Amino acid sequence: MRLSDRISRVQPSPTLAITAKAKALKAAGVDVVSFGAGEPDFNTPAPICEAAKAAIDAGKTKYTPASGLGELRAAIAADYALRGREVTAAQTIVCVGGKHALYNASQVLFQEGDKVIVPAPYWVSYPAQILLAGAEPVIIDCPASAGFKLTPTQLAEALEDEAVNALVLCSPSNPTGSVYTAEELAALGEVLLKHERVRVLYDAMYDRLYYDGAIAPDLVAAVPALDAQTITFNGFSKTYAMTGWRLGYAIGPEAVIAAMGKLQSQSTSNATSFAQYGAIEALKMGEDAISEMRETFRGRRELLVGLLNAIPCVECETPEGAFYAFPDFNAYIGERFEDDLALANYLLEEAKVALVPGSAFGAPGFMRLSYATGDDVIVEGVRRIREALG
Ligand SMILES: Cc1ncc(COP(=O)(O)O)c(C=O)c1O
Repeated sequence: MRLSDRISRVQPSPTLAITAKAKALKAAGVDVVSFGAGEPDFNTPAPICEAAKAAIDAGKTKYTPASGLGELRAAIAADYALRGREVTAAQTIVCVGGKHALYNASQVLFQEGDKVIVPAPYWVSYPAQILLAGAEPVIIDCPASAGFKLTPTQLAEALEDEAVNALVLCSPSNPTGSVYTAEELAALGEVLLKHERVRVLYDAMYDRLYYDGAIAPDLVAAVPALDAQTITFNGFSKTYAMTGWRLGYAIGPEAVIAAMGKLQSQSTSNATSFAQYGAIEALKMGEDAISEMRETFRGRRELLVGLLNAIPCVECETPEGAFYAFPDFNAYIGERFEDDLALANYLLEEAKVALVPGSAFGAPGFMRLSYATGDDVIVEGVRRIREALG
């Protein structure tokens, strides 16, 4: 059967091959240590589950408005006051996960001829979603020496091309855990304000998993004038350990949010009704639901980064947010291993350790290790890597 040109523009995620292999080994009874998880290993806090169950029992199982329950949209708007922003419910939309919110935004904002800046290392879905919208990703390399962050000079240079009219920025970052400071955001904002045509997709999915404070700096809070150019993305998956609930949201100018609502009304319709009631409870709990998980992640971060830096010739920056470490394994690439994919395959086959090669994120030679896993697993996994590398 003929498939559309659109779908042939994107490749399946290169991370899937390793993950599938790790799963197959596990299923065959092999003791695999996995650093692959992109989700918290905690259960969703009980009060959130109770609220969703109560919603089912109360018969709240029907369609909701396509853009989400008014009560949830108001709660999301109120929650953003914590970041120093004034947001109205009409500027919010509830989607079926943060990934869906980003997809909807790409569909309503991008078209053929548009070029979208994606700083690398990047989260795997940005380039694919941009391509699916008919636009072209412009990858800008942001090395470890620059903290994996886009500089105002790099941004200004890329914007000399008039066809470049959007930017995707992720802070805290998946895969690096790097976080833009308010000053760095302000410096990027200064450049962006000179180019009104540039729309910014600001992915703050991990903003409450930040280790230098409770919430990572927000772009629009740092540069309020960027309000008209920015769509902010956030969700419940990472913050409240709700990955399977499929709930995320976007905040932006009303016209963009209304367009996303129109698309959603003709595609998925609303996110699951009773999941939305759980999300209302999550926002009520706020720090009570988050702080213990954050502290556990903080301890694991210290442990993992320390162990990784003790492997000869491996260098790992301390991530400031999210739950990933992104060490540099380039010293092992070249003679012994052709590339990071070969290294990841070797570590899986020989050491029975699954990690995601950096080339999946546009950063060959690096590896992503999730620390959403127990201390004993971290210790054993790094011990195996060290041993296998000799
Ligand atoms: C940077 C980033 N953005 C967005 C998402 C989407 O999360 P979800 O669709 O579960 O809300 C993820 C999930 O891995 C992510 O890492």
